[in-house]
Amino acid sequence: MEADIKEVLISEEELKAKVKELGAQITKDYKGKDLLVLGILKGSVMFMSDLLREIKTPCYMDFMAVSSYGNSSESSGIVKIIKDLDFEVKGKHVLIVEDIIDSGVTLKYLMKYLAARNPESLEIASLLNKPERRKEDVHAKYLGYDVPDEFLVGYGLDYSERYRNLPYIGILKESVYKK
Ligand code: IMP
Ligand code: MG
Repeated sequence: MEADIKEVLISEEELKAKVKELGAQITKDYKGKDLLVLGILKGSVMFMSDLLREIKTPCYMDFMAVSSYGNSSESSGIVKIIKDLDFEVKGKHVLIVEDIIDSGVTLKYLMKYLAARNPESLEIASLLNKPERRKEDVHAKYLGYDVPDEFLVGYGLDYSERYRNLPYIGILKESVYKK
């Protein structure tokens, strides 16, 4: 697995510090508010579980599963809801947690979908952002890092459902996906 990584882009230690910082900001902003933290499966799982432990105010935890990628490294542009959320959104402050914003297609769709259910507020926390690839206008209020246009894996991010368990964010060797 490690042999397929060209370079470690963000180390475990850096991720830990960044998540702590984001958690502190979220804690401050949502104190006293009815907060629903909504992770988007499966990529957000590591970020979500670390982030939740840095949020020091009561909150609900929920998940949605969507699919937009299939098994390739290029987005299909089609978003499909595989698992809807369990909680009622109305009246709650919803914070979507994503691993990465790439084209923005997934989050644009989700924002519209959730906004229609009348949340009290709706924001995005994304660990990573690839600004060069943006097709849709999507903005994360809480953002970890802007990253270059490379295929990244680890800390939840996958290539063909693998590499999610790497504890850091790495750049995948082109030889792995350009076969
Ligand atoms: P978007 O709809 O194009 O913004 O795609 C967002 C989704 O694509 C993310 O939630 C990831 O699952 C996936 N994705 C985008 N870039 C990468 C990457 O570099 N590595 C792994 N998954 C990625
Ligand atoms: Mg993915």
